[in-house]
Amino acid sequence: MSGKNATETVSADAKGIARAARILAAGGLVAVPTETVYGLAARADSDEAVARIYDAKGRPSFNPLIVHVRDAAQAARYARLEGDASLLAERVWPGPLTLVLPRREDAGLAAAVTAGLPTVALRAPAHPAMRALLAACDFPLAAPSANRSGFISPTQAEHVSASLDGRIDLILDAGPCEEGVESTILAIRDGGRWDELRPGPVDLDALHRLLLGAPRESGSAGGAIEAPGQLASHYAPGKPVRLNAATATPDEFLIGFGAVASHCSLSPSGDLAEAAARLYACLHQAARSDLPRIAVAPVPEAGIGAAINDRLRRAAA
Ligand code: TXA
Ligand code: MG
Repeated sequence: MSGKNATETVSADAKGIARAARILAAGGLVAVPTETVYGLAARADSDEAVARIYDAKGRPSFNPLIVHVRDAAQAARYARLEGDASLLAERVWPGPLTLVLPRREDAGLAAAVTAGLPTVALRAPAHPAMRALLAACDFPLAAPSANRSGFISPTQAEHVSASLDGRIDLILDAGPCEEGVESTILAIRDGGRWDELRPGPVDLDALHRLLLGAPRESGSAGGAIEAPGQLASHYAPGKPVRLNAATATPDEFLIGFGAVASHCSLSPSGDLAEAAARLYACLHQAARSDLPRIAVAPVPEAGIGAAINDRLRRAAA
């Protein structure tokens, strides 16, 4: 199915969703908007379909995929969704939280989805187009971000076609993504400990206090790279990136924040939610510009600022 021909982009209306569902049922690849970034979806129960994702992205096969589901009930077919995980799913789903949970054996997921791990990453997304698509499919959807592996994530349909044109079967367009950075990934350990594997739009500290009445233990997920997407050299714009820049040299494309005059501002008013939503669009613009280097103004670490700075550090690595 995925051929050399240009990939068509269609509106994510009822007709587009129905066409996408047919392509997915037949084992094809469809880029679909979520509230975080555009995902590259394939049916998660087919080895062949999932293999196409890795092939189209050039993704290393040791890097597992997130399985997207309609709701907690569908998630529970594939993983043990209990205790805190069940509370979190009830509270946050549909939304930008991915839970890494003990996988159920023989639940019908393609082996490549979990890359041999005993766990599976599950998320019920909130975007109406993705929800409509999941409702139209009688299988869950494996979906990494819809970009060539290691490059900048897409928050607009044009970003997807610039990266994957001719390698996938269809792009559903619903305009820019609202959140702009990928979902928060949380693993819940056997002892009940919460390990944030990737910072994102969801404030885990607030949720921990709310649900468990105690502050979340701090500390990182430990030495091993458990979410290989966390490798340093991710989100690379293909040029040197300098962080915490107050001003730019003449050969630098400056990404600004707040009052800093810039080529592309994350948020002129200094709003972090707006900055997250615009982050990848500014990085795409910087990558396309004639200037050989990129400089980025400081972004506060508060709230979703932590996720923005996490992505910027990886872009600079
Ligand atoms: O917002 C998002 O999460 C987007 C949209 C499309 O849903 N998806 C996304 O997928 O960011 P991707 O493939 O770019 O990132 C998935 C991350 C990777 O870092 C991967 O290593 C990690 O999830 N991951 C997947 N399964 C895992 C598992 N069983 N244990 C630990 N990490 C896992
Ligand atoms: Mg990605």
